[in-house]
Amino acid sequence: MVVIAVCSLKGGVGKTSVTLGLVSAARAAGLRTLVVDLDPQGDSTIGLDVDGEAASTSALVIDQPRRRHLRAATRRSHWSDGGHAPIDVVVGGEELARHDRTDLSTRMLTSLRLVLDKVAGEHDLVIIDCPPSLGGLTRIGLTAADRAIVVTEPGVFAIAAADRALRAVHDVRTRLNPHLQPLGIVINRVRANINEHRYRVEELASLFGPLVLTQRIPERTSIQRAQGAYAPIHAFSNTGARESAELFDGILQHALRATRPR
Ligand SMILES: Nc1ncnc2c1ncn2[C@@H]1O[C@H](COP(=O)(O)OP(=O)(O)OP(=O)(O)O)[C@@H](O)[C@H]1O
Ligand SMILES: [Mg+2]
Repeated sequence: MVVIAVCSLKGGVGKTSVTLGLVSAARAAGLRTLVVDLDPQGDSTIGLDVDGEAASTSALVIDQPRRRHLRAATRRSHWSDGGHAPIDVVVGGEELARHDRTDLSTRMLTSLRLVLDKVAGEHDLVIIDCPPSLGGLTRIGLTAADRAIVVTEPGVFAIAAADRALRAVHDVRTRLNPHLQPLGIVINRVRANINEHRYRVEELASLFGPLVLTQRIPERTSIQRAQGAYAPIHAFSNTGARESAELFDGILQHALRATRPR
């Protein structure tokens, strides 16, 4: 089991879109995938079109890291329909907001990892969609992860935000989770015809070097269309969707190559 946290300390840059893209790639690769939605907005829960309503949310799993609470908060995604490998979602919800504090105990910070270890044999891949802050929830996600993906946009505030996120990864590794490694920075919503974007992409690459993944995700209506249809991007055959799907395949392969399963 490989656990990847998708984070950024900035809102709306594409964490959930990258999460959904990676799940779509995992589905195409036949991986048994568990998504942990740690965002009180529950966007990845919605995007993954889960079946019915869960009896609880990931908040209860953090409170009491027991296998049965994990099961109660988990729903199957309709993306698994038609004979695909299971895609399950530990659903997000408003109750999570009370965990987004900076004074969480080590017990709370380590709870998600504890419960994931209990079900390690059931999934090949776990993807954690984090909320846009460095409160308790992102720390819980990073403490549970082997690898962190930092998502950023090619904008003027992106560099400081990416730097802060990488520091947070380093901090969690030092204090709580020595296994955690940054997989890299994914630059999302790139428009190659905009000079400012080209400039910021080059700037990120020169500052962060190999940590900037070569898969840069363009701004694409196909990505929005797939999300609007609650469907995996790999299920669409137009050029924009195919190109985006290939980029997510590349990021997933990189993540799996770079991570030694525990
Ligand atoms: N590459 C892209 N091309 C087109 N639209 C995109 C792309 N990436 C993200 N979007 C759109 O931008 C909006 C914000 O993206 P998303 O919800 O993935 O960001 P987020 O970082 O998860 O946000 P939050 O911080 O609220 O969790 C969504 O409407 C999404 O469809
Ligand atoms: Mg999100």
